[in-house]
Amino acid sequence: MPPTKEERREALKAVYHQAKGCTNCPQLAATRTTVVFGNGNADADLMFVGEAPGANEDRQGLPFVGQAGKLLDALLGEIGLSRPAVWVCNVLKCRPPGNRDPHPAEIEACQDYLLRQVELIEPRVICTLGNFATKLLRGDPTGITRLHGHEEVRVIGRRAVRLYPIFHPAAALYTPANVEVLRADFARLPELLALDVPPQPESAIEEPAVPDAGEDDPAGQAVPEAEAAGSPAEDERDRAEAEREAESDADADADERDPEAARELEPAAVQLGLF
Ligand code: URA
Repeated sequence: MPPTKEERREALKAVYHQAKGCTNCPQLAATRTTVVFGNGNADADLMFVGEAPGANEDRQGLPFVGQAGKLLDALLGEIGLSRPAVWVCNVLKCRPPGNRDPHPAEIEACQDYLLRQVELIEPRVICTLGNFATKLLRGDPTGITRLHGHEEVRVIGRRAVRLYPIFHPAAALYTPANVEVLRADFARLPELLALDVPPQPESAIEEPAVPDAGEDDPAGQAVPEAEAAGSPAEDERDRAEAEREAESDADADADERDPEAARELEPAAVQLGLF
């Protein structure tokens, strides 16, 4: 018997509690303020996967709460959706210090949390925001410039989903012309959500999102560096993604949180968006 919605939600809370104390990446565990597990609807049809928490997210324990998050909210509103209806999370659950890119070994160490989220939330559509999420969940180095706006059915962990790569909102903020590209890609989401759930794999045999790279290469070619995709346009967008942290830092300074309010964000009930 497949688990009920309530059982999946309880299991998701258990994963959250496990992630909260995670020390898989000693450097990230030492420098983070909070683990940013993700939040929204624990039974969402639509999941967004970004790159990694920035300064605001690290402080508040919630994903996409800076400028990029405001753009995400606005674009969601344009298609008649809002945060409480969707699930939002990142490839990395901890903020990389010094505004650096996630390391391949960190992506590998964190990916089980993402796979568990996919398995337990059972989204129909996963929207990967930018290169890191797209490359991880496709297990392929093709970059976002080539792939954005093209959906495909993929098995992620134990679930078949429609994977839909789009630009990272921070990249669109950095290159305003990309806001229109992002808007056009967002406009197709209602149509994708209206499609049938893709046929699910017959057995529960797990297909790794990241193909096994072999023992000699634990980080693996399947978690390629952003630069692997190569084109100058993509390099520029990769840099734009990195800029999100700088933007997020500036935003954090302007948005210092009341410690009481920050503590209120701590309970799993809030983290899991029991709106
Ligand atoms: N950028 C991301 O990729 N994730 C966040 O949570 C915020 C900004």
